[in-house]
Amino acid sequence: MIKVSPSILAADFVNLERDIRAMVPAGADYVHIDVMDGLFVPNISIGLPVVSAIRKITDLVLDVHLMIDRPIRYVERFCQAGADILTIHIEADTEEHNLEALRMIRAQGVKAAISVKPKTPAEAVLPYLDLCDLILVMTVEPGFGGQSFMADMMPKVTKIREYITQRDLACELEVDGGVNTETGHTCVQAGADVLVAGSAYFKSKDPAAFVETLKANG
Ligand code: DX5
Ligand code: ZN
Repeated sequence: MIKVSPSILAADFVNLERDIRAMVPAGADYVHIDVMDGLFVPNISIGLPVVSAIRKITDLVLDVHLMIDRPIRYVERFCQAGADILTIHIEADTEEHNLEALRMIRAQGVKAAISVKPKTPAEAVLPYLDLCDLILVMTVEPGFGGQSFMADMMPKVTKIREYITQRDLACELEVDGGVNTETGHTCVQAGADVLVAGSAYFKSKDPAAFVETLKANG
């Protein structure tokens, strides 16, 4: 089954509660929350207090995507703030620190995930597979919403899907960046089972139909 995770980066922040509550009737599975530090990526978005505030108003799964340098420094606090899935970037620290960060996330009872930027190859996830509940393949350079989908990431999605299948892992495979009904279909064909959508979801006149189409395309 395909899951959809609308990214609040494209929401109306003044009406964030309204926009998140509307995700339930729209059929969303997760709420994707992009955390940026102005260092790992050239943009600053939202942080711990916003995750805690969102936790108070929804039972949807909080899918928190950390685009921050050396995430090990913050993972426990994001778990305590209410993340259900916490994603760190492979490129943000050493392998040793990243492995430890994933263990810290799981020790909090939260699902642990890693993400790879476009230039990072599929093989880079191999050392982490046993500690991951989800792998996120970026289909744009992280940092900004509204960018064009990179179709050349699809072989990477397929390769990581093969790793998951070969090892019989209970690991979801998510894509993030430029996903709409057309590119979402391409991602599902390549092996993704969780689709993040920011601009396309929030620009859609009928979010429920948009989510339904994304899921049906699978
Ligand atoms: C980009 C973020 C994405 C972003 C996706 O760095 O990680 O989650 O919100 O936005 P769209 O769907 O507009 O590309
Ligand atoms: Zn994201």
